[in-house]
Amino acid sequence: MRLCPSRGAARPPAVAVPLGRPPASRARGPPPARFKVTPDTPAADAEALAFDALGRIPRDKLFIGGRWAPPADGATLPLIDPRSGRAYGAAAAAGAADVDAAVAAARAAFDEGPWPRMAAKERGRVLYRLADLVESNADEIAALETLDVGMAISAARGLITPAVADTLRYYAGWADKVHGETLPVDGPFWAFTLKEPIGVVGAITPWNFPLLMAAVKLAPALAVGCTAVLKPAEQAPLTSLLFAQLASDAGLPPGVLNVVPGPGETAGAALAAHLGVDKITFTGSTEVGRLVGRAAASNIKPCSLELGGKSPLIVAPGADLGVAAAAAADAAFFHQGQCCTAASRVFVHASVYDEFAARAVEAARARAVGDPFSHATQQGPQVDAAQFGKVSRYLRLGREEGAKLAAGGERVGTEGYFLQPTVFTGVEDSMAVARDEIFGPVQCLLRYNTLEEALSRANATPYGLAAAVFSNDLDTVNAAARALRVGTVWVNAYNVVSASMPFGGFKESGIGRDKGREALDNYTQVKAVAQPLRDAAWR
Ligand code: NAI
Ligand code: MG
Repeated sequence: MRLCPSRGAARPPAVAVPLGRPPASRARGPPPARFKVTPDTPAADAEALAFDALGRIPRDKLFIGGRWAPPADGATLPLIDPRSGRAYGAAAAAGAADVDAAVAAARAAFDEGPWPRMAAKERGRVLYRLADLVESNADEIAALETLDVGMAISAARGLITPAVADTLRYYAGWADKVHGETLPVDGPFWAFTLKEPIGVVGAITPWNFPLLMAAVKLAPALAVGCTAVLKPAEQAPLTSLLFAQLASDAGLPPGVLNVVPGPGETAGAALAAHLGVDKITFTGSTEVGRLVGRAAASNIKPCSLELGGKSPLIVAPGADLGVAAAAAADAAFFHQGQCCTAASRVFVHASVYDEFAARAVEAARARAVGDPFSHATQQGPQVDAAQFGKVSRYLRLGREEGAKLAAGGERVGTEGYFLQPTVFTGVEDSMAVARDEIFGPVQCLLRYNTLEEALSRANATPYGLAAAVFSNDLDTVNAAARALRVGTVWVNAYNVVSASMPFGGFKESGIGRDKGREALDNYTQVKAVAQPLRDAAWR
């Protein structure tokens, strides 16, 4: 069985898969037979693969201490198909007692188990094996994300699942390269620092990119020798459960990774406040990030928070409008606009505003909305009724506040959570659509006259996650890159992300950085050690 080889089974053969790009380009002939999801796979086949994979996940259980166990109170989460709004099953829901058990298992694995004590390169080896398993199960993982959250299969298979494997490999390579320094000190002493794993990590992840967000947090934590409890979002438990099995198959010792999907208000809150947890890492809304930060104060555990955004994209005069409009459409509509980096405020110079708006409308209307299992689909449904309702409210609010609806604005079809890619023109900074994180396929075009004005308006938000500037003028680019108070600036591009690039927010978009070398600091403590230097060694 490919999906979940039994525990202790021989390592499956390594499968060579092109990394970080869609499977097999058409120009180079038909894709190899090992891919079950290719650009030519009919939607019905991809959907069948998802249900087949679903049938093999022990989703009525939680993964605690290296074993699958039912939740203490037998609670469940409904599994709802965002294409129809109908439930097709249920998954186990962790409560506070299960979080306690998971933390106890992670605690024991950290305090007494082999993981923090083994040679660092051996931890790296396990993570490399896990990356191989993610890759050899990439079709199933991608299909499950599509089923769970409505992610377009082309994105799930071509971009997101390869990024999970890339992230694991990036941190597998770091495992044996994290170390302290020797320090000069006064007097007959010498000193050095140790970088030690921080301990038990509680990871709380969102539903928009379920497995990628988990990997971004777990890979650096595990690489440095931490153990972890992962609390996936209640809307999207499936790939995290599968990942638990794959990690165990890769050789992760029992208790090192525990996976307990459950409601945020109970399971998430219990994990954030838990006295047995040494560190919290969270991605989600700013509102809940504030609660998590407060809960983490229980035992002064550090907390890294990757929160919401209202990212500006600036189109300067002289920019290539074709490139800018295409990138801006992807930036607003990719994954139904359910990206923390979504470029929801597009500041366009007055001299090119009308032409840019025409291109934006054309790009929005050209986007293929439909069954996310079809490779032709660019935009699937919003994740659930709550998000569909929230985005629909903003579609109404934009009109009521006087923005001009230039494209979209309506539901697509009569069932499920599909919405049209929407463009509002004539948007003013004071409007709710320009202020709030909508988390849906809504692009707002705002007009500006001077660069200084654009930068100051771009920064006039409590958020500070990402931004982009489209310009062929170096002074404009340099001024924008320095003035924008955000964690990532893209120049003539958008959503260029990599495991190597630190990612996180200024202001209320969060604290700390996921990814890059910087993320290792989230999961390590620095200890200073000093010793005497005697006699000849001192002189
Ligand atoms: P959320 O912030 O409630 O959920 C994120 C995670 O936090 C989930 O695992 C959830 O179970 C957990 N959680 C919820 N309440 C908690 C609590 N009291 N203590 C500990 N954990 C808790 O996000 P939600 O409700 O799914 O979406 C609401 C809005 O949040 C979206 O419309 C969007 O604006 C924003 N959001 C931003 C994300 C990002 O990537 N920055 C991801 C998801 C949502
Ligand atoms: Mg919530």
